[in-house]
Amino acid sequence: MKLENPSDGSGPSDREAIPATPEALLAAVLGSNQRTSDPRLKQILDALLRHLHEFASEVQLSYAELERGLDFLVRIGKATGPEKHEGILLADILGLATLVGLIDAKKSLAAGGTEPALIGPFWRANQPIRPNGATIASASTPGAGLFVDGQVLSLDGKPIANARVETWQASPGGLYENQDPEQEEMNLRARFQTDENGRFSFHSVRPAGYAVPVDGPCGELLALQRRDIMRPAHLHFIVMVEGYKTLATQIFDADDPNAYRDVVFGAVGSLLQRFQQDPDGSYRLNLQLRLEPGTMRIPMCPLPN
Ligand code: BEZ
Ligand code: FE
Repeated sequence: MKLENPSDGSGPSDREAIPATPEALLAAVLGSNQRTSDPRLKQILDALLRHLHEFASEVQLSYAELERGLDFLVRIGKATGPEKHEGILLADILGLATLVGLIDAKKSLAAGGTEPALIGPFWRANQPIRPNGATIASASTPGAGLFVDGQVLSLDGKPIANARVETWQASPGGLYENQDPEQEEMNLRARFQTDENGRFSFHSVRPAGYAVPVDGPCGELLALQRRDIMRPAHLHFIVMVEGYKTLATQIFDADDPNAYRDVVFGAVGSLLQRFQQDPDGSYRLNLQLRLEPGTMRIPMCPLPN
């Protein structure tokens, strides 16, 4: 059968029907992307289309399975709002967020920069600005004390002053403040600024590990895969300063029983650290965060309110 001449000239041929084979179909689909003007977008779409077609052919995807997958994506969207970002959770449980972080930090890692870790769904906008040495845990927060003594450095070991350091963590009960009606607003969250020696510090409590939210489609997927749903105890950090690439990372408690079984694959390399215990029973974490020179970026905030 002859097709009408497609007026945009984007198809593989302007007069021939596409032969009914997967290979010819892929050629036609790739042809339809030829005129995408943004070269990076074209590169991404070309690869996505190739891999998507290869994937469907490899597993011999059925129509019913395609419908189920599309329904899953729709439900990921519906489960996402200002209170919860199911899309980020999906990228996390697939290991995609960790992979993209490693790709982005390739040069920095080769030069001794701090390993990145995913931001996850619980960073809030407008975390309270606090002075160095402040306590970020409200008086009613249970658990052992933790003192964090941090320093932000360049790859060649020079202190970086005036860096914005965002931190947030779960309570010893394993919940973030926004998930837990028992905690005060913005408990265990803060924004600090490094001093002239690149230092920041705060008092808190030792965090606990927790289960990722499983009340949405990501939870269904984890159950179908019969996967563990726990994250090891950790503290989140994002460091932002002009002239350096933004570092989003986490420091994990190496003594947590789930230290080597993180459901979102974030606990990599030297990010697993031992919290040192002081004679009074409280803990201490000494931390150096090393940034690569580059362009600062403010990451997308999953909880804008
Ligand atoms: C988090 O670390 O806050 C987190 C990351 C991925 C999924 C759920 C929580
Ligand atoms: Fe977390």
